[in-house]
Amino acid sequence: MENLKVSSSTGLSGILRIPGDKSISHRAIMFGSLASGKTAIRNFLQSEDCLSTMDSFKKMGIKIRRKGETVTVFGKGLYGLKVPKTILNANNSGTTTRLMLGILAAQAFTSKITGDKSLCKRPMRRVADPLREMGASITGRDGGNYTPLTITGGLLKGINFKSKVASAQVKSAVLLAGLYAKGKTCVTEPEKSRDHTERMLKYFGVKLEIKGNTVCVKSGQELRGRKIEVPGDISSAAFFIVAALITPNSKLVLKNVGINPTRTGIIDALKKMGAKIKIVNKRNMKFEPVADLVVETSKLKGTVIGGKIIPRLIDEIPVLAVAAALAKGKTVFKDAGELRVKESDRIKTLCTELNKFGVKTKEFKDGFVVYGSSKPRGAKSISYGDHRIAMSMAVLALVSEGRSEIKDTACVKTSFPEFFKLFRKIQ
Ligand code: S3P
Repeated sequence: MENLKVSSSTGLSGILRIPGDKSISHRAIMFGSLASGKTAIRNFLQSEDCLSTMDSFKKMGIKIRRKGETVTVFGKGLYGLKVPKTILNANNSGTTTRLMLGILAAQAFTSKITGDKSLCKRPMRRVADPLREMGASITGRDGGNYTPLTITGGLLKGINFKSKVASAQVKSAVLLAGLYAKGKTCVTEPEKSRDHTERMLKYFGVKLEIKGNTVCVKSGQELRGRKIEVPGDISSAAFFIVAALITPNSKLVLKNVGINPTRTGIIDALKKMGAKIKIVNKRNMKFEPVADLVVETSKLKGTVIGGKIIPRLIDEIPVLAVAAALAKGKTVFKDAGELRVKESDRIKTLCTELNKFGVKTKEFKDGFVVYGSSKPRGAKSISYGDHRIAMSMAVLALVSEGRSEIKDTACVKTSFPEFFKLFRKIQ
């Protein structure tokens, strides 16, 4: 088991280049595989999750070449995938599984997809239900709610799907199936989730109709291979943003961070808490906006985080809870029931781990309260195999008295293999 020892810090400084965005890297491999011609992806995130996506397409006969940080996908068009000879393994990746289900649902073959212990507990019905309505067969434990799943695809028909959850994975799976389905496929979500699928599909030449929280696609459209540059992942930057805010005498410059408005809830929430974050050098990287962030030690105050903003910061709640632990007053996270079905039950794991550092919390059904202003004490923390819990607790350890140990940190490689190197570099 890999562990990380962290001592309390007197100040952080440096300039960091944040590695590629995970959501965009997954989609670049997927859409590149379904496109005709070559797709060259620069700054691809070489994390375990994205490599699971890459491996799945290789198993379906797609040639993918990796050279440094550039990955080239030799797409074979929408109908170019071959029946996989072995079971596809998404390992820890919910994005791989759910988006792949949308693609597999439309193939004229039967395939199986599975994952690790954590993935096999995450709900898939939210994707399986609309795909079945479109005509696919998806079977597995609990009526096809959990991996391993068997998918028999075929001729699909377009649907008008109203999702109960604001989920980019659900939206993307249905839209991908919609590329093959007869007629028009529409997805409406209660709040707008990240829109990387929509942006990238358009960049590959697909026409979409977007009105409010509804996205529609018509079949019969071809994807054309393109050159892609992946912006830095704001979800990875988040750990360093909070580290700089809460550690005394700190200033960090984070270069090349994606600032897609469907992902910047973390910046809005932290600014509301009093954070000094400057967004400079704004530019467009083809279809996604990027910028550099300058972050300095700040006095934070508690706030309420709930409603519309939740899908814009859902993955950053673990590290926002760490910011809340150092803020004056209490911070309430609400309307965040989705946290219970992430890589761990993050409401439970966060409250348990924060308590170990002497930070008081209160758990409720779809959220929790963090009581700030405390002087955290060093603790022995565990990750529950959840990368974002491991990295968040490492950040909290920087401002906790004495020495801390974070156990079982290998999971960090699923999203941010360079985390430890950068974490050491700024101290
Ligand atoms: C992702 C969507 C989000 C997010 C996940 C990545 C994506 O999940 O939590 O880490 O790449 O589409 P939802 O499907 O709940 O939006």
